[in-house]
Amino acid sequence: MAVGSQTIALEESGWKESFSVVREYNPDGLIIANLSAAASSDDAIAAVDMINADALQLHFNVPQELAMPEGDRHFKGIIEQVARVVETCPVPVIAKEVGFGFSRESVKRLYDAGVRIFDTGGQGGTNFIAIEDKRGGAFQGELNSWGIPTAVSLLEILASNLPVKIIASGGIRSAADVAKALALGADMVGIAGSLLRILLHQGADELDRWINDFLYRLRAVFLMGGAGDIKTLAEKPVIILGPTAEWLRARDIDPTQWAKR
Ligand SMILES: Cc1cc2nc3c(=O)[nH]c(=O)nc-3n(C[C@H](O)[C@H](O)[C@H](O)COP(=O)(O)O)c2cc1C
Repeated sequence: MAVGSQTIALEESGWKESFSVVREYNPDGLIIANLSAAASSDDAIAAVDMINADALQLHFNVPQELAMPEGDRHFKGIIEQVARVVETCPVPVIAKEVGFGFSRESVKRLYDAGVRIFDTGGQGGTNFIAIEDKRGGAFQGELNSWGIPTAVSLLEILASNLPVKIIASGGIRSAADVAKALALGADMVGIAGSLLRILLHQGADELDRWINDFLYRLRAVFLMGGAGDIKTLAEKPVIILGPTAEWLRARDIDPTQWAKR
């Protein structure tokens, strides 16, 4: 589980408990801290300490900031700052988009800054430009389709052949979505909006039930696909069609390489 941005708790200590409770309830699980990519090295260490985190996500949300009337407008020097955090952070650092996806060029720059884990945070699910627009945002509905779809972002990172770990997230809703991302080569998969909607409208018990049913369907897909584990699933041929294949060809990436395994 990854928490939301901890900036608020670094600024006002009264909020700390709403983050540390995650570790209290889940003493042995994988818990990921979260801060803006512009965070200082000291804040990064404090965020990790706050929840005894196993990793730190640094989120990149430039479109959201620009859509927000009160958002940041200055992004110079962020990559250099990320490099400093990677050097001093006691746990692995994950570069994470928040719904607009990473291109292979962005990933290469962050790789050169020392990042070795990427969360695609691709387009197709929660849309923070649309959310900010509803709060009177600056984009006025004109840029709602901005971003790189999750499948494309994942494939761009995979095709770059960098020795990195990839978390696929952004619009993952079904067991089939999870299986597809893992079959393509993602190491992990993240879901936010779908789970939060069930929690909000139907409560925690229903969410528990939903997750159990979801895991049943995911195991079924593994069995139907003849894969006993993620590694075997990721060796299966995957056929990429339609606009995703077109996108890859336009970027000089051979979409049939995943079918030729
Ligand atoms: C209510 C809500 C709050 C979020 N807050 C953060 C945040 O603080 N930091 C962050 O990196 N991502 C945040 N996200 C983005 C998610 O981590 C995820 O990248 C994005 O929602 C795409 O996944 P989804 O389509 O499954 O929701 C938030 C998403 C939601 C729905």
